[in-house]
Amino acid sequence: MKFAPSILTADLARLKEAIEEAEAAGVDWIHLDVMDGVFVPNLTFGPILVEAVRRVTRLPLDVHLMIVNPERYLEDFARAGADVITVHFEATPHAHRAVQKVKELGKKAGLAINPATPLSAFEALLPELDLALLMSVNPGFGGQTYIPQSTERLRRLKAMRDALNPACLIEVDGGVNRATVAEVYRAGADVAVAGSALFNDKPVKENLKELKEVLYALGDR
Ligand code: DX5
Ligand code: ZN
Repeated sequence: MKFAPSILTADLARLKEAIEEAEAAGVDWIHLDVMDGVFVPNLTFGPILVEAVRRVTRLPLDVHLMIVNPERYLEDFARAGADVITVHFEATPHAHRAVQKVKELGKKAGLAINPATPLSAFEALLPELDLALLMSVNPGFGGQTYIPQSTERLRRLKAMRDALNPACLIEVDGGVNRATVAEVYRAGADVAVAGSALFNDKPVKENLKELKEVLYALGDR
């Protein structure tokens, strides 16, 4: 399973160092949480920060758009250097158009759903997707508790993915830590976002090692 640290819980005053530390520790992607204060009750950053991050790492940039009508900004995020651009099913009446646009821009296209959204929201678009992101907390903040029902939803999403588009990666986002990482792995996640579990008072390297040790014990390599 790949790990994508969310910079939301990193020390933004020393973001470059935080990203270099994560890269040296062996993370796979960098996850960037874009929030507009409308789709979610919090505000973060836009394309200029993605562009700044692009300059300090070669890791794939996994941009999670928690903004209404994401179509308006897809070009800006593509130009800023995003590799994967994920829009929320709930944030636009035209998720299909948004996904097509991301692909036209030459980027990997993701679709995300909130904890209260039926899994069937993925069905129509799954054959088009590079990434299916299942929220395991209500989006808006780092450091929230994993919603237990997410594990069963991940299992069902994996079955849907295996049937409709085996190449699509499944990403889980929210509350992944030492206590929950085994169950998300077993349920079929390919990529786990981890914010507070990786960026906290301990070095990223130690935190990542602890998460990976849980997976090694389950046979993941
Ligand atoms: C929540 C964000 C997540 C969050 C994860 O709205 O999409 O990416 O930062 O943080 P943790 O791992 O602390 O739950
Ligand atoms: Zn996220």
